[in-house]
Amino acid sequence: MADDTSIFIGASRKPDDSYQRAENLLLQYGNRHGLVTGATGTGKTVSLQILAEGFSNAGVPVFCADIKGDLSGIAMMGTAQDFLVKRAEQVKLDPYDFQEFPVIFWDLFGEQGHPIRATISEMGPLLLSRLMNLTDAQEGIMNIAFRIADEEGLLLLDMKDLQALLANIAERAEEISARYGNVTKPSVGAIQRTLLVLEQQGAANFFGEPALRIADIMRTTRDGRGAISVLAADKLMMNPRLYATFLLWLMSELFEELPEVGDPDKPKLVFFFDEAHLLFDEAPKVLIDRVEQVVRLIRSKGVGVYFVTQNPLDIPEKVLAQLGNRVQHALRAYTPREQQAVRTAAETFRPNPDFDCATAITQLATGEALVSTLEAKGIPSMVQRTLIRPPSSRLGPITPAERQKLIGESPVTGQYDQVIDRESAFEMLQKKAKEAQDAEAQAQQAGTGGSRWTIPGFGNDDPAPQSGGRRAPAPRPSNRQTVAEAAIKSVVRSVGSSVGRAIVRGILGSLSRGR
Ligand SMILES: Nc1ncnc2c1ncn2[C@@H]1O[C@H](COP(=O)(O)OP(=O)(O)OP(=O)(O)O)[C@@H](O)[C@H]1O
Ligand SMILES: [Mg+2]
Repeated sequence: MADDTSIFIGASRKPDDSYQRAENLLLQYGNRHGLVTGATGTGKTVSLQILAEGFSNAGVPVFCADIKGDLSGIAMMGTAQDFLVKRAEQVKLDPYDFQEFPVIFWDLFGEQGHPIRATISEMGPLLLSRLMNLTDAQEGIMNIAFRIADEEGLLLLDMKDLQALLANIAERAEEISARYGNVTKPSVGAIQRTLLVLEQQGAANFFGEPALRIADIMRTTRDGRGAISVLAADKLMMNPRLYATFLLWLMSELFEELPEVGDPDKPKLVFFFDEAHLLFDEAPKVLIDRVEQVVRLIRSKGVGVYFVTQNPLDIPEKVLAQLGNRVQHALRAYTPREQQAVRTAAETFRPNPDFDCATAITQLATGEALVSTLEAKGIPSMVQRTLIRPPSSRLGPITPAERQKLIGESPVTGQYDQVIDRESAFEMLQKKAKEAQDAEAQAQQAGTGGSRWTIPGFGNDDPAPQSGGRRAPAPRPSNRQTVAEAAIKSVVRSVGSSVGRAIVRGILGSLSRGR
């Protein structure tokens, strides 16, 4: 049975269907990733639930998306229903204890959990372009926009910052084209319209501050259990691209922020990615390659990623090859694609002479799975036909009242509930425009050039305006800009760390800059 080095998954069966032995997942290989697949209603969510329970009990924080709301019961004590008690006997789980788990509810829309936010600059141009489904040319412009923001010290926090920046870029299209390549007003306009659509779909909630602190999903309780972060994803699923982009962002943040740990005794965090096919649907190859890379590298940060999906074919082969711990529930095999999926799933297991894998996959009962985990030296165990243990927490959803109560008692209450709108690109560009306007008005009024706005040492103490006599026209644009830029630079210095971070974006954010 499980001890503090492993998680009890269930019991394997002999060919005559009698009890064989306990099947465990070794915590030491918990960061070697995993896969839970199976047709609808075969037991995937329950498998996810018992794995999350096991990790939490071992002190490992868990982050998981709750697509249908039925994972939320993990926050409540289970009850001794007959079929669960029977299952506990079948797998020799004795005693079968009930338990509630320390859950923090999150929700991008802030309704069924604490709001979870990221800034535009944290998200980066690659993920944003994917979120907005931009063409290659538009993505090119997005990259330029981020570069300009970095160079000019414009903080991109929320959607209105990005809108303001794009509007500014449209105005300066000619100058920017000369420096960076083709940027036209209509092409920027197309991106602005896409951004509006995204805003209307509710994505505006997600962008801004306070942004999620990774430490808040890596909490443990006083009694040493890992907190389970449950992301309400039912509404989010209506915008699958936002869902996928968000989880990718979170994965890349974890990757960027966590230190290398080599091979830990147990993972630092485990991440369950339900409906994982959404990650890869229509994703450009370059993004798939990056995901593959992040999944491979994040292991050394002690993070285990578990993909949950109906069909193993949904996961690109290179990613699939990295998923060491596998729970394969039943698959149907009616259509050629389904038959292909069964063959693929069967072929990835280390065969067991007792049964034919492909046949078994189509015959598994609900809550039964073919299981293979990594054992000594990280070698996959021989596949076993396994009855999955019943959960200790509640099977099925939590009530809205129970949820609200738990949200009120959570350790992050009050930290994320109010939006903070500090000075960023939108305000800065507004100010810049106003300064320019004022300068122009003043120059016209005074009838003199812009020389009175000159700041010595900023390169604009050029006597040229005077040379045309006292009645020089409005100040030259370069003057106005320099003054505004000087103001911006001082702001940048005070917020330098966040801007600096944007400039050194990591593996999923700075693709275009060839890092
Ligand atoms: N390990 C288990 N022990 C006891 N009952 C189980 C177990 N696994 C699944 N069941 C039963 O099967 C039902 C369906 O399982 P589950 O919700 O996990 O399926 P699913 O594969 O997630 O389905 P969907 O694709 O529709 O989300 C559960 O509500 C429960 O009644
Ligand atoms: Mg499910």
